Amino acid sequence: MTDQKKSDQTTSSEKPWGGRFSEPTDAFVERFTASVDFDQRLYHHDITGSIAHATMLAKVGVLTDDERDQIIEGLKGVKADIEAGRFEWSVSLEDVHMNIEAALTDRIGITGKKLHTGRSRNDQVATDIRLYLRDEIDVIAEELNRLQNGLLDLAEREADTIMPGFTHLQTAQPVTFGHHLLAWYEMLVRDGERLQDCRKRVNVMPLGAAALAGTTYPIDRNLTADLLGFDRPTENSLDSVSDRDFAIEFCSSAALLMTHLSRFSEELVLWTSAQFDFIDLPDRFCTGSSIMPQKKNPDVPELVRGKTGRVNGHLISLLTLMKSQPLAYNKDNQEDKEPLFDTVDTVKGSLKAYADMIPAIRSKSANMRVAAKNGFSTATDLADYLVKKGVAFRDAHEIVGKSVAFGVAEGRDLSDMTLEELQQFSDYITDDVFDVLTLEGSVQARDHLGGTAPDQVRAAVQRARAGRK
Ligand code: ARG
Repeated sequence: MTDQKKSDQTTSSEKPWGGRFSEPTDAFVERFTASVDFDQRLYHHDITGSIAHATMLAKVGVLTDDERDQIIEGLKGVKADIEAGRFEWSVSLEDVHMNIEAALTDRIGITGKKLHTGRSRNDQVATDIRLYLRDEIDVIAEELNRLQNGLLDLAEREADTIMPGFTHLQTAQPVTFGHHLLAWYEMLVRDGERLQDCRKRVNVMPLGAAALAGTTYPIDRNLTADLLGFDRPTENSLDSVSDRDFAIEFCSSAALLMTHLSRFSEELVLWTSAQFDFIDLPDRFCTGSSIMPQKKNPDVPELVRGKTGRVNGHLISLLTLMKSQPLAYNKDNQEDKEPLFDTVDTVKGSLKAYADMIPAIRSKSANMRVAAKNGFSTATDLADYLVKKGVAFRDAHEIVGKSVAFGVAEGRDLSDMTLEELQQFSDYITDDVFDVLTLEGSVQARDHLGGTAPDQVRAAVQRARAGRK
């Protein structure tokens, strides 16, 4: 690389586009408009795209085989320099694309200047982001898979553990902990499906659209698409360079995924509190307080809950970025990268933390039981019992309401009352009532597809595992 190219102050004629300019770019404007500080992370995909482009150009006779080989060798050298930390990124060369092209020309001379034939940075950057996002979706899908498997294993281990189920965060009916965990699992299954659906629209190739209208060279877009593993080339050149729907869709799926993780986080934070004390999170996922020696804070769930905010924000950034943009490419689009990159990083980090943490959760089943018993959680079971004995549901509801009021006054659960006490409220109650008033009886009775019975939890885990193979 020449000293001039390394410096951040080049004259306009040294810019790849400097031909029609008569004065250098303002120093502040140069920094302000550059994206290289953040888009350099696309280097790998930029080079992959360029190698495919050069291969295609040689196939259709726009480059000679020798030129193609020089370009490919040169690009591999540039990549090696970047990966060895030997590459000096230059702000005056604006972005990752022009930095790499300039370095290629420095290496191989004039042939390097032929690489950009028949393309523009507009279709190049759109291609790079799609290649990048496709890879990242695959990494995210792997982490999501790991988390899903962890949840299935934990749900199976906790299939018989009874906890209070809540509505309005008030004790409602007993559920099994395994069943609760499988509710989380279902949310994540939908998140995985959304990501795979989004991937279909990511995996389409804009290259060939050039600046906006296509190119006059006899390019073979199907060949380039094949070389890059795209499902197909895009249909319309104007749309190709301006479309960022795929990034918005990804951020939307990511926002929903993070929203789910924030819900899990909220429950974990509650459950680790002294007031609930339902689970233990191992120390390695928690931190202490610098002032209060007794504290063990559930930092990982809290932070994931907090990070949901930034991902939701990135979705709004991208929607607002695209709102009202006229066709085709606009410099606005350079602003797509930071929200997208940060969304990818945040989702990957949050999923990794969760996939590591979930298998380490231990339930405090005795505390869960006490909590389930405390809130009259089998009241509905008593009502159902009365209905099965011939009482109308509304009357049964009334009878149980009175029994609960008695229990509140006495400080006792329904299952702790004597038969005589219960019979004050209805003659239909006989000593078989205690089968339904127990927590076990209550969960076991909900023994149908999607119900909370331990056997249903085990069956759901088996079905989920079979569906994942
Ligand atoms: N750095 C630019 C971006 O991220 C690349 C495309 C620039 N194209 C242009 N015509 N200025 O969008």
